[in-house]
Amino acid sequence: MLGIIGAMDVEVNSIKSELENVEIKNIAAMDFYKGTLAGKEVVVVKCGIGKVNAAICAQILVSVFGVSALVNTGVAGSLNNDINICDIVVSTSALEHDMDVTPLGYAKGDQSEFKADENLIKLAKDSAEEAGLDVKIFEGKVVSGDQFIGTHEAKVYLRDTFNGDCAEMEGASIAHTAYLNKTPYVVIRAISDKADGGAQMDYPTFEAKAAENSIKLINCMIKNY
Ligand code: ADE
Repeated sequence: MLGIIGAMDVEVNSIKSELENVEIKNIAAMDFYKGTLAGKEVVVVKCGIGKVNAAICAQILVSVFGVSALVNTGVAGSLNNDINICDIVVSTSALEHDMDVTPLGYAKGDQSEFKADENLIKLAKDSAEEAGLDVKIFEGKVVSGDQFIGTHEAKVYLRDTFNGDCAEMEGASIAHTAYLNKTPYVVIRAISDKADGGAQMDYPTFEAKAAENSIKLINCMIKNY
């Protein structure tokens, strides 16, 4: 059974609305929607913004609901000039960019990067094709931190330091939780902005359209899992 996590309503509401036989359980102030979609059991949940919310949510999905895989969906800012607004990034790995133990001799990003599951990456890519999305699908590195990236300097730092392809605020903490629980995961993010000076303006304009694309893909993934 897949566990699907989005940080905000726009990222999960339409999946929730398509569920049948729904049971809702409230744990840690989060509503977990367990139901079926295309005959497949799934749990869908809005975790709220940021790494702590996302990690707690992922742990509950594993410990309480016994999900066999974690999927994080939503929007992200692009850090890669080839990846444009509304395109989709399927994670090859996810890294916590605000984890910094360099004063103790660790390299930046050391022990904060987690590889995504190959089978889930393939499932996501096949599902994107099946969903017939009119955007490009990329595989790439997702970098996560508790901050919205909206300046040229912050964007360049994340690109140059970590070689990140897109920035968001939850994926790597879900990846970290998945790693600790030996559970496969993948992050799927549609680009809502370019994580630069225009990000605050682009984000609300493209958020809904971008989220809609990743939701179409997720629907196919649930069906094919
Ligand atoms: N989610 C969508 N756009 C983002 C950005 N620029 N930074 C962090 N999270 C985001």
